This record gives sequence, C-alpha cells and structure tokens, in this order.
Amino acid sequence: MRKTLVLAVIGALAAGAMVGGATIAMAQGGPIAERKENRKQAAAAMRAIKGIIDAKGPTVGAVEQAAKLKTLEAAFVKQFPAGSDKGDTKALPAIWTDMAGFQAASKASDMAYDKLAVAAGSGDQAALAAAFADTGKTCGACHDKFRAKAN
Ligand code: HEC
Repeated sequence: MRKTLVLAVIGALAAGAMVGGATIAMAQGGPIAERKENRKQAAAAMRAIKGIIDAKGPTVGAVEQAAKLKTLEAAFVKQFPAGSDKGDTKALPAIWTDMAGFQAASKASDMAYDKLAVAAGSGDQAALAAAFADTGKTCGACHDKFRAKAN
C-alpha cells in the first residue's frame, strides 16, 4: 500500500516535470528559435563593439563583448539537432551534410573572438578595429556556406 503511494507520487512528479519541460520548450520555440535568438545576441555584441570603436575612447569594454561572443558561439554550434533543418530557418542542408566544416567555421569565429579580446584588452584602438573587421569576416564566411541568402 505504502509502496503504491510512493510510486504514485513519483509518477505524478515525473508527469509534472514532463509538462513543465514541454512548456519551456514551447516558450522558447525549439532549436530554430533558440539559435536565431543566439545570433541576434551575437549581432548585438558586435554592434556594441562597433560603438566602442566609433567612440574612439577606451577599448576595454569590448573584452566583455568578446567573452559574450565566445559563450554564444559555444552554444550556437550545438543548436542544430537532426530535423531542425525544416521550418522557419535559413540554415542550409550543408550544415548537416558537412557538420565538420560547419564546426570548423564556428571554431574560426571562436578564435577571432580571442583575438578581439586581446586587442580590446590592449587598449589599442587600431588593433581593436582590425580584430573587429577580421571577426566580421569569419561571420560572413560561415554565412556564405551555411546560411541561405535573405529573400
Ligand atoms: C558557424 C557558422 C556561423 C557563424 C560563425 C556565424 N553565423 Fe550567423 N548564422 C548562421 C546560420 C546557420 C544562421 C541561420 C540560422 C537559422 O535561420 O536557423 C545564422 C543567422 C544569423 C543571423 C540572423 C538571425 C535571425 O534572427 O534569423 C544573424 C543576425 C547572424 N547570424 C549574425 C552573426 C554574427 C554577427 C556572427 C559573427 C559574430 C555570426 N552570425 C557568425 C551561421 C553562423
């Protein structure tokens, strides 16, 4: 009797957890919405760095943005589960047929963020501007191969 009750409670908890999980997944809209939101944040970090460059003042604020880009990139590259090529997405099939190439493109950006952080930390405005331009090229390189052009 007691055992049955315990099992019933565990069952209820598990069901509750599943409902909770589904609610979270729906609120976030799944991997496509998550990775788009991730890239919006990456674009925002890049804009913030552009603002710092244009202000021609201290560069150190860009260190934090470079760190943000790294964190976002680490999550982004894992947001392409099988089946998420279908839907409201510009992700090209090449991501799944050439996952190694996709990961290499992500790694290239990740390395650019490191250089961005170093340049930002150096206080050298020209170095930051150059590192920013190089970073932008790595974004574009991945987009050229793995993202559909805007309609
Ligand atoms: C490893 C590949 C890769 C790298 C590196 C990359 N992107 Fe992207 N980006 C993509 C893909 C793929 C999509 C399309 C995602 C989708 O529609 O599901 C995308 C979409 C976007 C979007 C549109 C998001 C939306 O709302 O639909 C923006 C903005 C963006 N990227 C900015 C950037 C910036 C800025 C960088 C560099 C700091 C960058 N990306 C680096 C692959 C990459």
